[in-house]
Amino acid sequence: MSLVSTVTVKVPATTANLGPGFDCIGAALKLYNEFKFTCLDSGGLIIQVSGAEAEKVQTDESNLLYQAFVKLYQYIDQTPPPVKIEIKLGVRLARGLGSSATAIVGGLVAANQLAGSPLSELQVMELAIAMEGHPDNVVPALLGGCRLAATSQTGWEICDITWHRHIVPVVAIPDFELSTSEARRVLPTEVSRADAIFNTAHFGLLLRGLATNQEDWLKAALQDKLHQPYRQALIPGYDDVAAAAVAAGAYGMVISGAGPTLLALTDATHTYGVVTAMSNAWKQAGIKSTVRSLALDTQGATVL
Ligand code: HSE
Repeated sequence: MSLVSTVTVKVPATTANLGPGFDCIGAALKLYNEFKFTCLDSGGLIIQVSGAEAEKVQTDESNLLYQAFVKLYQYIDQTPPPVKIEIKLGVRLARGLGSSATAIVGGLVAANQLAGSPLSELQVMELAIAMEGHPDNVVPALLGGCRLAATSQTGWEICDITWHRHIVPVVAIPDFELSTSEARRVLPTEVSRADAIFNTAHFGLLLRGLATNQEDWLKAALQDKLHQPYRQALIPGYDDVAAAAVAAGAYGMVISGAGPTLLALTDATHTYGVVTAMSNAWKQAGIKSTVRSLALDTQGATVL
């Protein structure tokens, strides 16, 4: 077992739910956070952060990246080494783009690497899901691509979801935050049989739509009854941005993860129009945003 003393891990942003796939599907996007860990001979913890909104990141032991790092050492029954962590932020915080998942996955992968890789990728994934509480961000952040996670009798089944190359994700990231806990608090704890059937049907249609780029299927498939109807009120301008995206040719628009970022899926031929329309709609609603198309990341977390 050869031990290294420095490791850099790059972890992609993710968009979870994709409409009807609440808490079970997510896709990795080509937008990254980078975390460099350097073991120190002595001392405790040094955290340095750069990039957008760096001042909002905790730099003490409550930092989520560090907590994940410690978690792995606890799991293998070892004491974590004193460490300096340099964080380069590319993923905005609390926007529904899986910034917490990048921290959890980054901390676990870095610790596993520094400890000589005692855990398999599957074990790291299970620890990540346990820390996050749901699999739809951490699984694609670790593995890349679009992934469906379902519990099995013994753990998790992870399924690679085919994503047609002409389907482009467009993210509209507003300049306000929405915490996942707040966005989960507004959800009912029970749903009707009609809503459960609605989502089962639409989620099946979504998977076929993503594989085929079949326009009618995708237009219908992005509807949801489990979370979006309850969360839309937390995102000012939601209806206007959705209408603008669809008028510009998008198949539909959904909330990215718990929001407030909005995600449109479009055929590549309409990308420019959809980006422009979503940006203008939010501007007219008085909200500053960054709107861009992002390709799917297929690598997941990478040790540089
Ligand atoms: N599936 C989660 C939610 C993603 O929608 O609350 C956010 O982490």
